[in-house]
Amino acid sequence: MKNILAPFAALAAALTVSVTALAPLERNLAYRSPSLSLSNGDGLSHDIAHIGNQIRKRAYDDYVTSKVEGKAKRNNGKKGQYKTEADFLVQKYDANYGSDGRDAYKGKVSFPFGVASGDPYPNSAILWTHPVPEDSNTNLPICLRYQTSKSKTDFSASNLVDDSYAWTTSEVDYSYKVETTGLSPKTQYYYRFFSCHDHSVVSPVGTFKTIPEYDDDSVDELKLAVFSCSNLPFGFFNAYRAAAARDNGADYFVHVGDYIYEARGDGQTVAGENTYGDGRPLNRVPEPDHEIVTLDDYRLRYGSYRKDKDLAALHGSKAFFGIWDDHEVADNSYNHGTADSNDTDTGAVRGVKFTERKLAAVKAYYEWMPIRQVDTTDSLRIWRSFRYGKLADIFLLDTRNFDRDLTDIYWNTAAVGAVSNDTDRSLMGGKQEQWLYRNMIESQQRGATWKIVGQQIVMNWQNYGEPDFMYNYDAWQGYRSNRRRFFDTIVKNDIDNTVILAGDSHANWVYDTVPEDRLNNTQYDPVTGQGSIAVEFAGTAVSSPSSYGKNLTQQKYDAAAQRLVSINRNLQWAEGAHRGYFELEFSKNEVNAQFYGYANNSLPNSEELLVAQFNVKKGANKLTRPINYGIKPNSGALQAQVVDYSKSRWNGTAFVAQN
Ligand SMILES: *[C@@H]1O[C@H](CO)[C@@H](O)[C@H](O)[C@H]1NC(C)=O
Ligand SMILES: *[C@@H]1O[C@H](CO)[C@@H](O)[C@H](O)[C@H]1NC(C)=O
Ligand SMILES: *[C@@H]1O[C@H](CO)[C@@H](O)[C@H](O)[C@H]1NC(C)=O
Ligand SMILES: *[C@@H]1O[C@H](CO)[C@@H](O)[C@H](O)[C@H]1NC(C)=O
Ligand SMILES: *[C@@H]1O[C@H](CO)[C@@H](O)[C@H](O)[C@H]1NC(C)=O
Ligand SMILES: *[C@@H]1O[C@H](CO)[C@@H](O)[C@H](O)[C@H]1NC(C)=O
Repeated sequence: MKNILAPFAALAAALTVSVTALAPLERNLAYRSPSLSLSNGDGLSHDIAHIGNQIRKRAYDDYVTSKVEGKAKRNNGKKGQYKTEADFLVQKYDANYGSDGRDAYKGKVSFPFGVASGDPYPNSAILWTHPVPEDSNTNLPICLRYQTSKSKTDFSASNLVDDSYAWTTSEVDYSYKVETTGLSPKTQYYYRFFSCHDHSVVSPVGTFKTIPEYDDDSVDELKLAVFSCSNLPFGFFNAYRAAAARDNGADYFVHVGDYIYEARGDGQTVAGENTYGDGRPLNRVPEPDHEIVTLDDYRLRYGSYRKDKDLAALHGSKAFFGIWDDHEVADNSYNHGTADSNDTDTGAVRGVKFTERKLAAVKAYYEWMPIRQVDTTDSLRIWRSFRYGKLADIFLLDTRNFDRDLTDIYWNTAAVGAVSNDTDRSLMGGKQEQWLYRNMIESQQRGATWKIVGQQIVMNWQNYGEPDFMYNYDAWQGYRSNRRRFFDTIVKNDIDNTVILAGDSHANWVYDTVPEDRLNNTQYDPVTGQGSIAVEFAGTAVSSPSSYGKNLTQQKYDAAAQRLVSINRNLQWAEGAHRGYFELEFSKNEVNAQFYGYANNSLPNSEELLVAQFNVKKGANKLTRPINYGIKPNSGALQAQVVDYSKSRWNGTAFVAQN
């Protein structure tokens, strides 16, 4: 143990260079959200200088209190040494706010929210935790050490590749987010945290893998586990549990949004508040017990989720690539509001208007999620990309909160439907659209095989076929010109091997991806897949209830799936009975997809079903036939097994019997 617990002073001395380069506050990325270089103008930045003054002041107050109460034998009994606050500050604090840690919290900390890693690069990754001081009254900064090792069990010097420290304070709700650096590509690492001043409690050990160098053409495998829509009160996170435990499972986990839900989760109807689910029977009522609108609310809600042991296990077991959807802010969010909030007086929820609410939501997201801030001049930008050697480029989009034009907020469905094909509507905003198209083209030119487009909502034509719910204009169907521009980019530039990921819908949809102008004619052939330009894997929810309806019989779920594949010409598999997730294995020649399902999330250990499997060959840009290897899937419906193509024709809206 003695190597691990090197005296703090020695550590600080060894780190002199980086300490002066980056002070222990700045090293905690939670303060750099979005950037230290921005002033507080957008309401998102932290003013480090101001926080530094606050910390000094609190330390002085603490010093004075200790003196008065005589409770702490501080400063080696030299309590009377500082005559004035100014005297104290000069002697106790240097330019790094006391970076040697003399006036940080000295008690024990615990790690009830576990550990997490994310956004790995070839030489670095984001590490996250959230210490809780045992003394809940302390107002001192917590100094936390982080260590990255090549070994899971041995954190001695010979295995350590990074060993540093940073501070966290109440200003960021004690979130702790650092970039561990000096790593090698394609390597498995282990990391942990402990207090700089009390080494008796060490966090759980987490693990992650760095990604390859961008020009590495030897890479032949990338395995992703893809999740969406994890609503805590609705059930246990069986999908997280299983993905964390799977032998030979995914390398990384991708969450395409609705990682938390903003509504009240205790099932009690309160006027003016959204209520989802009743978490009481399962003892899964998230904090706080009302719809969340303030920064404190969002922080508490993230904390409730992170205490879930299945989610904590997943975060500890692999690096996370995350993007938000609407519920990280509020239901059906868009650039100027959500279903229940906007900036007018009537659009305030619990007294908080939309813009203020969104800022709180965004700030809490950055604090709690192990994601990078890729553009420090743009506080809302979470869209970003990763080059996985020559095997793949991963694009993570924000179709939701960055700059989405007006969406369907229930009372305006007809109006949004009427403008859904307007050329000037955008889902992503012009800046992000340009970035995506340019980078998709560059990806093809650089010879990356797979273009993985991770995003929130179902992209392909999606006819629900219900008289009162034909199209979901809150998905790409409400932004058809944005979709057309994306598909045109693929077609005009001969971009191959695009694989689209989606969530949001609480059901499984697997598509040959087909532009609108090919959907009704021979340019697309649903039998062979010819005319498809990409594939889309849209996964069901981790725990949010089925969009087909709650608690139906398997027979009814299957009937609904059969109907969907017969009225959506390029939808090759639909399924709505199971909650779950999917895994994708990319290699140089093909992608294999496995969709896993859990029938009953009221059980913490619901049995797992391999619901269906798919294959996509390099260069094919469509699902491999026979789909699901010609086997009848365990749940849901394959179009090829529902529609007898030899006896049917497409009438424009459905497969119907040939005259
Ligand atoms: C604002 O939200 C309120 C409450 O949902 C709604 O009644 C009102 O129509 C909204 N106003 C605008 C301009 O969207
Ligand atoms: C949708 O817009 C496109 C591009 O402006 C146009 O070519 C197409 O005809 C429109 N479709 C409908 C159904 O109006
Ligand atoms: C679900 O359906 C079953 C059988 O139809 C019924 O007995 C049960 O009460 C339902 N549960 C809920 C929560 O609606
Ligand atoms: C799911 O599990 C719960 C808890 O054991 C049980 O009460 C319920 O009947 C189960 N539901 C179904 C549809 O099997
Ligand atoms: C296909 O044709 C039908 C009937 O004209 C029309 O309602 C539908 O919108 C068309 N679909 C597409 C994708 O153009
Ligand atoms: C196509 O057939 C379906 C199912 O019979 C019917 O509901 C729909 O109106 C038809 N569409 C057209 C454009 O004829």
